[in-house]
Formats: sequence, structure tokens, C-alpha cells
Amino acid sequence: MERLDKILASQGAMSRKEVKEIIKQGRIALNGMVVKDSSVKIDENKDTVTFDGEVIQLKKHIYIMLNKPQGVISASDSDNDETVVDLVPAELYRKGLFPAGRLDKDTTGFVLITDDGEFAHRILSPRNHIFKTYIAQLEHPLAKEHIEKLENGIVLGDRTELKGSRVEVVEDSDKPLVRIMICEGKYHQVKRMFAATGNKVLTLHREKMGNLHLDDSLKPGECREITPDELEKITEHENY
Ligand code: URA
Repeated sequence: MERLDKILASQGAMSRKEVKEIIKQGRIALNGMVVKDSSVKIDENKDTVTFDGEVIQLKKHIYIMLNKPQGVISASDSDNDETVVDLVPAELYRKGLFPAGRLDKDTTGFVLITDDGEFAHRILSPRNHIFKTYIAQLEHPLAKEHIEKLENGIVLGDRTELKGSRVEVVEDSDKPLVRIMICEGKYHQVKRMFAATGNKVLTLHREKMGNLHLDDSLKPGECREITPDELEKITEHENY
């Protein structure tokens, strides 16, 4: 149960002040009855709230899929750089949005932006085995022994231990395209993994989180809300 004005303001379209004003004007009804008290407690899963007679779909949290372009940083705010949260359009924007997991400035692809800290923690914890899938273009061909090394888990020069990953060559050439799935999110992890095999990542793109693929219709810089069914796909692969 949460205050009516707080819940309405958390939906993003109006500030707390604007919400209080429209409540005072008698434009909000709770289960069919006009309410003029902003502090009344409501249950967003059970109560029906209308604004000028139109039902407001109350959502506790929002989950957004962004196709991150190069040059944008995975942060909520920054003095110098454009951030992934700056790319969220006004109709999806809410206070408290942050990227659940970071991509490097030059990495492109799927970034999940949310205001749900608990969910973010769950999908980022290596214990939960949510795989993140990347497509990397490498500077050099990838030998079989290198694939085995990456699949078995490696210890980097600075003693960082990395769990086993899954590696698959998508396009075999001088500069091959490979798909790699990892369940951790350590700093520059994919780049450091390939560096440990004497290779170099030229471009990196995240195509999937868990079992949810980045929507191909999103151009770089575009985002859209994730549906509840899609959200479940992210955690479908837990513990496999
Ligand atoms: N691994 C990296 O090296 N960079 C990323 O942006 C994501 C995973």
C-alpha cells in the first residue's frame, strides 16, 4: 500500500505537485469514487484509479529495452557524456531509472533500464546464472584450443577468476564473428577474455539477456517498454 499521490507521480507523466493539483480538482477517482485526499493509501494491484474517467494502468516499476549506440555511457547521469537514461523518451521516463548492468562506451546493443533495484540485482548476480549473449568481431581467427580455454573458465593475469562461457563461431574469416555467452558482468569481461587468448575484440554488441533477444526493429538509440512476458524470458534460464 502506498500513497495515491506518490504512486501517480511514480508513473512518470506528472510531478507530485501536478498530481496533488488534479486530485484537488476532483479529477481522480478511486474504485469509482472521487478522492480529494492525496494521502489516501492504495494497492496498485487491486485498486482501480481513473483520471477524468480513463483508467490509469498502475505499474510499480518500469522495464525498458534500449539498443545502445556507441559513444553513450551506461550511467544515470554524467556531466560530460550522454547517458543511456538520457535516451529514454518522456513517455517512459520516471525518477530513479538506471541501467541494470553496464556496457562499455564503445559497446552497442541491449541495455535494460529500470527503476526496480531488486530485479536488477537478481539478473546481475552471477549466482543466478542469467546469461548475457554478445556478438564480437575479433582481430584474429579463433583456435579450437582458445574456445576450450574460454569454455572451461580462466584466471586472468590480475588473478580475476572467470567462470566458463559458451563460445560459438558465427562467421569464420580472418576477423571472425563469434557469439559468446557469459553469466558474470566483470569489468571489460569479454574484451579481457579474448585478450587472454592473444586476440582483440574489434566490435562488441549485446544481443540477448537471458532468453530475451534485443528487438531487431529498434534502431541504435531507440528503446521501448519490455512486456511482462518478455521480462520472464530474461530469467527463464536461471540455473541452467
Ligand atoms: N564485456 C566487455 O568487455 N565490454 C562490455 O561492454 C560488455 C562485456
